[in-house]
Amino acid sequence: MKLLVELNQSQRVALGGLLVILLPCFFPTLFTPLGRASPSIFSEWNAPKPRHLQLLKGALQLQTSDRQQANLWSPLANQGWKPCVDSADTPLLPKKSQGYVQVFLDGGLNQQRMGICDAVAVAKILNATLVIPHLEVNPVWQDSSSFTEIFDIDHFINVLKDDIFITKELPSKYSWSTREYYATGIRATRIKTAPLHASAIWYLENVLPVLQSYGIAALAPFSHRLAFDNLPAYIQRLRCKVNFEALVFVPHIKALGEALVNRIRYPPIESGAGGTEYLQDRTNEINHKQGAGKFVVLHLRFDKDMAAHSACDFGGGKAEKMALAKYRQVIWQGRVLKSQFTDEELRNQGRCPLTPEEIGLLLAALGFSNTTRLYLASHKVCHVLSHRRVELLYEP
Ligand SMILES: *[C@@H]1O[C@H](CO)[C@@H](O)[C@H](O)[C@H]1NC(C)=O
Ligand SMILES: *[C@@H]1O[C@H](CO)[C@@H](O)[C@H](O)[C@H]1NC(C)=O
Repeated sequence: MKLLVELNQSQRVALGGLLVILLPCFFPTLFTPLGRASPSIFSEWNAPKPRHLQLLKGALQLQTSDRQQANLWSPLANQGWKPCVDSADTPLLPKKSQGYVQVFLDGGLNQQRMGICDAVAVAKILNATLVIPHLEVNPVWQDSSSFTEIFDIDHFINVLKDDIFITKELPSKYSWSTREYYATGIRATRIKTAPLHASAIWYLENVLPVLQSYGIAALAPFSHRLAFDNLPAYIQRLRCKVNFEALVFVPHIKALGEALVNRIRYPPIESGAGGTEYLQDRTNEINHKQGAGKFVVLHLRFDKDMAAHSACDFGGGKAEKMALAKYRQVIWQGRVLKSQFTDEELRNQGRCPLTPEEIGLLLAALGFSNTTRLYLASHKVCHVLSHRRVELLYEP
């Protein structure tokens, strides 16, 4: 089994683009300085013990037929998805903008990407000018890359030029409207009450008046703040266009992504490769027979924030409980409490992130054998022992 865990920042960005993963939405403090959580917090954990030893034993014995194996790797049937197309019923650019819309996006790269699509849609609904979105630094990923460092900004503006007004920077008249300005007081131009999955009408009723009074509105928090349903078809198409046409990675991230996929698909024979030479063409060293082919990539989102936020019990005893409670307090300052549900209830409601052990069982149950090449995309799996849990299954 090969683990791809020690990714550097730009590699993670590139890999993030490769994986489409729905993360549960939760909202770390926006605009309040985050106490940097001590990375040693989890050293307080007792080693979690495997919790499903019986299942594990069964899983290790599991034999899958060749037919099951073939099914497992065959492409999904056509789900009926069609590319989004431009259509004639899209309203043209208005003569005049209603004002500036600013968004501050939290979450990981996938959530931020969705947030960018939503921001364009909201700018369209309001006939406003979108200020290039600000990407917050997530307390877990710690990635301080800006929009321009990740996405080709000129391409973005160009693709959307007939749909909305976009500006890279606010005119000097509004230069006061910064993240710091909103972090340090209650401001009339900040809209922080957008409900989850708000409707287009909500924006027209609550944001348009602010634009008309002040010429600018800053939306934060903004993750998941636009509905998926009951929006005009041209707004949905516009969101699609942002995601699939307007947002492209800058060339060096694309190159890195391609190099990564290539390396994942055709791993070099000898181990110990990597380091800073990840962009080198290694095709010569590749053992096509042995290495080429199928692999599983997992975004094992079992990081300490997920574990802490869930308030679930992961089998690490009292020390684990205390460490998680402490981390919850640091990150959410009492706004995320220990759940009123018992661990069993939480688990039955599907509210606990799957542990590496559970993911291993799931993979085995799906029919992946112990020879499957498995790549992990992750920040830091919660506990070193978590790796052991995966290894337990795949390299007993
Ligand atoms: C993999 O599983 C098979 C049974 O399906 C078993 O015979 C074999 O020993 C396992 N290999 C390893 C490395 O665990
Ligand atoms: C936006 O512009 C379109 C086309 O010019 C117009 O039909 C619509 O009423 C405008 N909406 C707002 C909120 O200004």
